[in-house]
Amino acid sequence: MTNFAKAKAHTNIALIKYWGKRDEQLFLPMNSSLSLTLDAFYTETEVLLDDNLESDQFILNNDIQSLTETKKITDFLNLFRKQAGITTPAKVTSQNFVPTAAGLASSASAFAALGCAMNQVTNLNMDKSTLSTYVRRGSGSATRSLFGGFVEWQMGTCSEDSLATPVDDANWDIGMITVAVNTQKKTVSSRKGMKLTVETSNFYPAWLESAATDLVAIKTAIKQQDFEQVGLITESNGMKMHGTMLGATPPFSYWEPRTLEVLTKVRQLRGQGWQCYFTMDAGPNVKILCRYSDSQKLQKFLQDAFPDNPVIISKVGSGVELLAK
Ligand code: DP6
Repeated sequence: MTNFAKAKAHTNIALIKYWGKRDEQLFLPMNSSLSLTLDAFYTETEVLLDDNLESDQFILNNDIQSLTETKKITDFLNLFRKQAGITTPAKVTSQNFVPTAAGLASSASAFAALGCAMNQVTNLNMDKSTLSTYVRRGSGSATRSLFGGFVEWQMGTCSEDSLATPVDDANWDIGMITVAVNTQKKTVSSRKGMKLTVETSNFYPAWLESAATDLVAIKTAIKQQDFEQVGLITESNGMKMHGTMLGATPPFSYWEPRTLEVLTKVRQLRGQGWQCYFTMDAGPNVKILCRYSDSQKLQKFLQDAFPDNPVIISKVGSGVELLAK
């Protein structure tokens, strides 16, 4: 038997962050989160189920991947194969479309695209929310990449209801600018960083409390299309997540000197009347939520201030899609 599908998924940036698991096996999060899907960064993945293969093969950006990397993919594919009652090996060929300088290669778009293609080749025909409970087990943030615009990942009570739901298509003059501060592989992965934080940070209980409040508030602001509130809540939530890491043992931080310079510049631009708000993930790069109609001007200000750092504009991205079958 052979069966083929190709899918494309965009990455997403959390405005209310996912930071910590309550179940590491099932990837159940400690808190619900909310993101914006980005158009500029995405992954395209082909899956070929083929009985003639001896084992799974994984090719990423034209390079055959090691056994360790392939094993991660195999574990993920097994979730689908088990449900479909098959054991057919797969050839997975994946391409990340991320401006090389951006350093934003993301597991979110990768597992969302792979999950969508697997859903097709196994004929499981799950709807996107159900599919998101499978995709979640590749990487938590991938859960949100199945939908476009603003997307919520509800923490749920168990594996079946910890899933993504679309909140708003964000079709109201919204964009995001990334200032790439350092594109090297991060020293502490998000997986390790969140685990250390949950286990040791004194600030963690306070984080959980305010993440819940921030989520309610941002959903109200989104409904009202109150861009300023969306931005202010985003900025505050991101900083609180980074604060939890300073309370861990040992303390750690993803920030670099240039990160702080970019944050200062964004505050300065805001002082001059521009609507722009920063957030950061498990790395030193800064993402700036802005009006898409302002993005070219803001990009110029930022590029003039930081000539050596790539400054990349993105508009809002759409949900995962099947490109071929
Ligand atoms: C800071 O989804 O990469 O970007 O579930 O262990 O694969 P795993 O972690 P991952 O963590 C993302 C953390 C974050 C915040 C977010 O995207 O919500």
